[in-house]
Amino acid sequence: MEIYLDSASLDDVKAAHDLGILDGVTTNPTLIAKEKVDYAKRLAEICGVCKGPVSAEVISTDFAGMMREAADHVKIAPNIVVKLPSTLDGLKACKALADKGVRTNLTLCFQTLQALMVAKAGAFLVSPFIGRLDDVGEDGMELIRTIRTVYDNYGMKTKILAASIRHTNHLLHCAIAGADVATCPLNVIQACMKHPLTDAGLERFLADYKKAFG
Ligand code: G3P
Repeated sequence: MEIYLDSASLDDVKAAHDLGILDGVTTNPTLIAKEKVDYAKRLAEICGVCKGPVSAEVISTDFAGMMREAADHVKIAPNIVVKLPSTLDGLKACKALADKGVRTNLTLCFQTLQALMVAKAGAFLVSPFIGRLDDVGEDGMELIRTIRTVYDNYGMKTKILAASIRHTNHLLHCAIAGADVATCPLNVIQACMKHPLTDAGLERFLADYKKAFG
């Protein structure tokens, strides 16, 4: 499974990149608003660090506006992926951009049929939001499983990018369910390498060594 960082913080991107496991980055209007920086400038900085796909989201909700913003986003760097909402206008923009060879990430996916439609329209990535479904009492992971089944039934090439990941258990179950990619905040990536028995074992190894050799 590929791992993307879900952040618009340049420090977070550099930290994840330095770990050697960063495959891409996703951003959204909420994440860039937290940074209070110019979106295009920050995307260029992120693309300077991460050479994998970097998702740049449009703010427009109409087809023409999405196409205008997409044209600006793709000028930033060759690894920019245009992030579009999973709406009717987003679907149209997805198809029009796919026809021009532009990669897209269809976000805010909450049902399998949205994923089916965007795959038909040539989406490069689809982003089902696990945590937000859990928030409203649904099973977010079930959405990953059903999209996987439908895509496999028809050999659909769109990559399932599990999003709205809140903790390592989400990440583990995405890998078990066969998500192609998971995008997570830096703290979730870091938490993958933490276990109390690793810490305790390391402490004991070092103490034993010190006792024997000083
Ligand atoms: O990639 C989408 C993600 O940023 C949403 O996460 O935690 O706001 O639901 P969350």
